[in-house]
Amino acid sequence: MKVTVVGAGAVGASCAEYIAIKDFASEVVVLDIKEGYAEGKAMDLMQTASLNGFDTKIVGTTGDYSKTANSDVCVITSGIPRKPGMTREELIGINAGIVKSVSSSLIEQSPNTIIIVVSNPMDTMAYLVHKTTDLPRNRIIGMGGALDSARFKYRLAEALGAPISDVDGMVVGGHSDKGMIPLTRMATRNSVPVTEFLSEERLEKVAADTKVGGATLTGLLGTSAWYAPGAAVSGMVQAIACDSQKMFPVSTLLEGEYDLTDISIGVPVILGRKGIEKIVEIDLTNAEKAKMRESAEAVKKTNGLLEL
Ligand code: 2OP
Repeated sequence: MKVTVVGAGAVGASCAEYIAIKDFASEVVVLDIKEGYAEGKAMDLMQTASLNGFDTKIVGTTGDYSKTANSDVCVITSGIPRKPGMTREELIGINAGIVKSVSSSLIEQSPNTIIIVVSNPMDTMAYLVHKTTDLPRNRIIGMGGALDSARFKYRLAEALGAPISDVDGMVVGGHSDKGMIPLTRMATRNSVPVTEFLSEERLEKVAADTKVGGATLTGLLGTSAWYAPGAAVSGMVQAIACDSQKMFPVSTLLEGEYDLTDISIGVPVILGRKGIEKIVEIDLTNAEKAKMRESAEAVKKTNGLLEL
């Protein structure tokens, strides 16, 4: 299994590190445009191999896409991250051009690859890849829901005073501060609905804190988060590499599912060696359906800013 990560910044390097530590890939190529940066990150990571116990080979390259040839999965993290006070949508002007160019260069070297888009505004960047490449929709995956769900579980565990391993929950909808839909109705503590333990008001605060999870960290860090985004992507890559048939919320192009078309937005899917093996249509309440429609309208509005 060969994986390429474009962008050797904090998210890309974290993603490469977690993939290497999980040791399911033979090679991870990290590519950046900044001279020597990806090579340095790759060498530093390789010098952890004997300490962290992995055999994955991590290679860095400055802009040489030939080194990415025949990658099974390509992760696009390149572009500018948010600054405090910015929305993800404000990044579209610069990041759209980068994602369009990067995806084209990757596919030229790896026509059979699966692409995972991380760059923001992620749902719109994923949509851009659908519209500017001829990859089938099962091979273009946006990473947002896996990260948002991890933040949701963190907030649920905090509210419950429970260990994270006791908690489960999923976030669907757009990967945006307003568009996320934490499915509090379905969240559980060891199979017991969390509504048995938490009041409606406390669950509303869990959902609200989840939705601004990225912005909260950007305010603290002065830039976008990287550990959890990198870990979320590495879990998706592992599910693909190992054909695990695990369910993840990801941004995928909908063609009538959830009564939505011509949009990439977060819904549950089964991930396996083909990428998106199946889109899972779960029964949403009328209130959840209304939130999904509202979230989709916001994503489509951002998509409208693209110059396709
Ligand atoms: C986040 O929410 C980078 O969008 C990503 O942290």
